[in-house]
Amino acid sequence: MKHGAILITGGAGYIGSHVALQLRARAERVVALDDLSRGFRQAVLDVPLVVGNVGDRDTVRAALDAHGVDTVMHFAACTVVPESVGDPLKYYLNNTCATRSLLQCCLEGEVRHFVFSSTAAVYGIPAAGVAAEDTPTSPINPYGSSKLMSEWMLAAVAEASPLRYVSLRYFNVAGSDSGGRIGQATPNATLLIKVACEAAVGKRAEVAIFGTDYPTPDGTGVRDYIHVEDLAAAHLDALQYLRAGGGSTTLNVGYGHGYSVRQVLASVERVSGKPLKVREEPRRPGDPPALVARAERIRRELRWKPRLNDLDTIVRTGLAWEERLLRNPW
Ligand code: UD1
Repeated sequence: MKHGAILITGGAGYIGSHVALQLRARAERVVALDDLSRGFRQAVLDVPLVVGNVGDRDTVRAALDAHGVDTVMHFAACTVVPESVGDPLKYYLNNTCATRSLLQCCLEGEVRHFVFSSTAAVYGIPAAGVAAEDTPTSPINPYGSSKLMSEWMLAAVAEASPLRYVSLRYFNVAGSDSGGRIGQATPNATLLIKVACEAAVGKRAEVAIFGTDYPTPDGTGVRDYIHVEDLAAAHLDALQYLRAGGGSTTLNVGYGHGYSVRQVLASVERVSGKPLKVREEPRRPGDPPALVARAERIRRELRWKPRLNDLDTIVRTGLAWEERLLRNPW
């Protein structure tokens, strides 16, 4: 059966561009939509790019029709937790309202499959810091609630129409393309591994540890860090699952084990061979102490097989990318 094209919203962003790269490697027809507010034109490589906002219905409808899209993968979003605490309406507009608009276009354009970029932040502070898909959702920041509201809309739309979806709740995504072609280029990055790699290559003077008094083994925050290429592969598995007739589902994407901030910094020092200058700071607003996935379901339902499940490997690709950005900035 001939499949339609895949629209990747946020296709010039960090995760969307890695998914586009893998889809192109499988000879899928792909079109990226990105307003380039946070994405980079360089990141889409040879994928056709429509420059526009995912909340703009005319642009989205035109892209769906022009490219014969039957699958949408929706990455376009604001993703910085502390920013969402300070400016919640930005998050409800760009994440929740924009997803509503996109879903309306999908219904009008008879899109059949939808893969949604959700987040572990929907769980808030789960008991013992571990979350399975049926752990009650209880976000503690507007970023998490803006994504959870989108999950709810998507589920209701799927009940009321033939559209089927996979919502992927990402844990902490890090690293970059092992071929060195693309990576995360966000200015003023806030994600720990990116920040620590920037410090290791001399782009920042030091790294702050936000909180050393958490109830975790070494007092610093614990997260389930997952390589962006394994995460991207989960989207291809989701596509295959939906094409094979799989029912709508919501799945964690994580490795199922966590590392503390101090363990991450030790890995960056080990891989780079250089000590980092570290500053201890108070807790950051909106941060849970620990957040680790129960991650069996995605392996079972999508047959997802992670290949880069190793902290030093994640850090190595992150460092290589920062070195490349120093030589050749985006
Ligand atoms: C959050 C979201 C995640 C989202 C991501 C995107 C939660 C629980 N998770 O990840 O779903 O995809 O943002 O932005 O809301 N840290 C430092 N120093 C730094 C940076 C971070 O100590 O300079 C610490 C944080 O306090 C945290 C850990 O490192 O304990 C990871 O933080 P970060 O990389 O920013 O990701 P999350 O906030 O966990």
